Amino acid sequence: MTRSVIAALNGAWESELVAAVEATAGYTVARRCADLPDLLAAAAAGYGQVGLVSADLRALDRPALHELASHGVEVAGVVAPGDDMGERRLRQLGLTVVLRADLASHEIDDALDSLASRASSVVDEVLIPTADLDEPETIVAAKVIAVWGPTGAPGRSTVALNLAAELARSATTLLVDCDTYGSSVAQSLGLLDEAPGVAAAARAADQGTLDLAALARIAPEVVPGLRVLTGIPRAERWTELRAPSVAHLLTVARQLSRFVVIDCGFAIEDDEELSYDTLAPRRNAATLTALESADDLLVVGAADPIGLQRLVRAVQDLAAVPSPTPRIVVNRVRASAVGSRPERRIADALGRFAGMEDITYLPWDQVSLDGAMFAGKSLAEFAPQSDLRRAIASLTTSYAVSAPEQRRRRSRR
Ligand SMILES: Nc1ncnc2c1ncn2[C@@H]1O[C@H](COP(=O)(O)OP(=O)(O)OP(=O)(O)O)[C@@H](O)[C@H]1O
Ligand SMILES: [Mg+2]
Repeated sequence: MTRSVIAALNGAWESELVAAVEATAGYTVARRCADLPDLLAAAAAGYGQVGLVSADLRALDRPALHELASHGVEVAGVVAPGDDMGERRLRQLGLTVVLRADLASHEIDDALDSLASRASSVVDEVLIPTADLDEPETIVAAKVIAVWGPTGAPGRSTVALNLAAELARSATTLLVDCDTYGSSVAQSLGLLDEAPGVAAAARAADQGTLDLAALARIAPEVVPGLRVLTGIPRAERWTELRAPSVAHLLTVARQLSRFVVIDCGFAIEDDEELSYDTLAPRRNAATLTALESADDLLVVGAADPIGLQRLVRAVQDLAAVPSPTPRIVVNRVRASAVGSRPERRIADALGRFAGMEDITYLPWDQVSLDGAMFAGKSLAEFAPQSDLRRAIASLTTSYAVSAPEQRRRRSRR
């Protein structure tokens, strides 16, 4: 059975390549498209199962490839012989098959056949570092930890930032602010609002230029071991954080740091069902993608009657979202909100009504947090002896970094 090819190719070699595809045993060119919109329309109309794109195709980016894939089109790149830059760009966009424009028909046949076999095992490729970075942390697989929780400011950002700061003491850590409703990491650490941050990283991911060196440039090291990707400065810019870009960004982040801690927005409704256009940006794509990509999930709730009720509902809502098993963190614990011996009361209530066990409690300590925020520091730096800092540090024990890794890091400084 021959498969139909839709092509959007800019090179002077376009007609020769089309003729070579026509001469293959397995493929026929169904449509020669003038540009990317034309190609997307042909894909949406079901004209082809295979797409061919050239590296210089205007506006070709990761979301466009995602859209082609959503129409069941497998895409291969085409470059002129010797166009290493073009090939590099196409591979950075995630294409695993890139053809040279002067291949013979039987070679094209083989290359396009390999698309189908690779499709089931596509790995997001990450470029080898080019800058003089630290060697990537490849010895142990990186861990992505999402910090999420319901509305009502239970302390997601406080936990994310301070957990990242604790982890960074023994292994490289990247803190990513993915809260598209109210980013806060930049301000908490006294970083400039104009820092390029997560929006720039997502843009680079879209354009296929996000490699390890680029991410390292966008995510500066704020204290030794801790890199930060600040959030979008205004909530209306949420459209810049699309699911495929955030997913790719987290893939590269895993290569950059041993731990990736994500401060997530509170909302997890998926508006896809409400939307007529399923490929439109989704309001909560960043958080949903973070939850889906994460290896571990901390769910933070506030230790007062409303906060606890929201926490229980939040954990129920999570069941409908692809995400790791949540670990429950109850923050802002104080007797004035729930009565004496608050931890015991909370444990009773959450155990009885929601079957929650193994809860981590973080005490109320506004003074330390206010001071740390004012100084633009983490609790580890500002209030190392505080009970709150100790309690957050205890969260890291399950992520214990092996001794050899600690030694390796120290020797590098
Ligand atoms: N353990 C605590 N004790 C006292 N105050 C706390 C504690 N944890 C957080 N806070 C305070 O609560 C406020 C909200 O915390 P934070 O910004 O971490 O919440 P959030 O869940 O990220 O909220 P948002 O919805 O704004 O993203 C901050 O002023 C913070 O200092
Ligand atoms: Mg927050």
